[in-house]
Amino acid sequence: MAVQLTKEEEEMLAGKHGEAKCLSMQLLMKAAEAYNAERLIPIASCHLVLSFQKTALQAGLETAERFVKLGAKCAVPTSIDTSSMDFERWKEFRFPEDFMKDQFRMKAALEALGAIPTWSCVPYEGGGVVPRFGQHIAWTESSTAPYVNSLIGARTNRVGAYEDLASAITGRTPYYGLHLDENRLGNILIEVTTDLTPGDYNVFGSWVGEVVENKIPVITGIPEDVRPLDLRYFGASGAATGSLALYHMPGITAEFRTVEEAFGGKKIPQRVQFGPEELKERTGRMSSVPGGKMDLVVIGCPHLTMEGLIDLANRIKGRKVKVETYVLTNKVSKDMATEMGVAKIIEDSGMKLNTGCCAWSPVELCGFPEHFTVMANSGKQAWYIPSLLTQMRPGKVDVIYGDVDACIKAACRGEA
Ligand code: F3S
Repeated sequence: MAVQLTKEEEEMLAGKHGEAKCLSMQLLMKAAEAYNAERLIPIASCHLVLSFQKTALQAGLETAERFVKLGAKCAVPTSIDTSSMDFERWKEFRFPEDFMKDQFRMKAALEALGAIPTWSCVPYEGGGVVPRFGQHIAWTESSTAPYVNSLIGARTNRVGAYEDLASAITGRTPYYGLHLDENRLGNILIEVTTDLTPGDYNVFGSWVGEVVENKIPVITGIPEDVRPLDLRYFGASGAATGSLALYHMPGITAEFRTVEEAFGGKKIPQRVQFGPEELKERTGRMSSVPGGKMDLVVIGCPHLTMEGLIDLANRIKGRKVKVETYVLTNKVSKDMATEMGVAKIIEDSGMKLNTGCCAWSPVELCGFPEHFTVMANSGKQAWYIPSLLTQMRPGKVDVIYGDVDACIKAACRGEA
């Protein structure tokens, strides 16, 4: 299908607005053709992931610096996903020096492009843009899309790296997928018939990701007072084990008030239940080893913001950890937590705030032994560590999944 362009878009493609916009339009045109999109649409904001990890860093860096040389600037408010390093405490966390230098180059390049240095997978609670209901946006990173699509009702696909930059520079995205009304309706009903603790939302999300594949789930049985924090963990876990990018929980999420509305008044095509047996079975598959000693505990994937940091401080106050424990957060939250005394309570326990950094990179890069074990309160890490990360470095990394309390208890005892 030929992609219909406006006059301004044609001019951008023809190079009349500079080489950076021209290159970006070429990339978006290829993407639009691949997605069978009939046109591009203007977007209100963008979220970028270019600095991601060691493997993809060089390509991202070359692209970002090339765009800076071309004088490119973000055309819409654009936040930046996690860095792969804490910019202030990189030495303390044992990041290699050559990696550190490249991370600072990436930081300089993205900031020169005019991106907002949120360095977070929770940019909407870290100084970035908060989209509004119905707005078209182009946001990358698996944990952000389910949150902004579902909880806020903004419209984004799970945008890929480089396409996100092209969207930031042009202010456009291909009009397909979750931008269209008809693609946002539910097509599988999930009835939750068991009580869920906060930690269970990771387990439930991991199960949902596998079960729904590329469908849009409508979920019932979730209490109305569920914390956004737990839904963030739910979405990130579902996006890791599957392609979850949007879900509806009528009465909780933004878009539909009833189950009937969420299915567009049509017959429900598929129903599944998540009960005590599914919870037990999936919980048993969250860890690659049943317990024992661990070398590192990671709390905060997705990043903990104020709600999570205050909660953690209340739980850890007066206790001491025996295992290296990283608490991942963004700069805005860390600064507020410092002002409130919350950061001090956490760090007095021996835990370290690791700011702006992804959970993945310390595990990959920070001098842990070839075979070691990580404990995490994240369904996303519970999935990625044994399935992906362990293939990207020599040796083996095992993972033990536990909720925040289990992580604290294990970190204080020295074993799970
Ligand atoms: Fe965020 Fe990295 Fe986890 S981007 S969701 S801390 S894997």
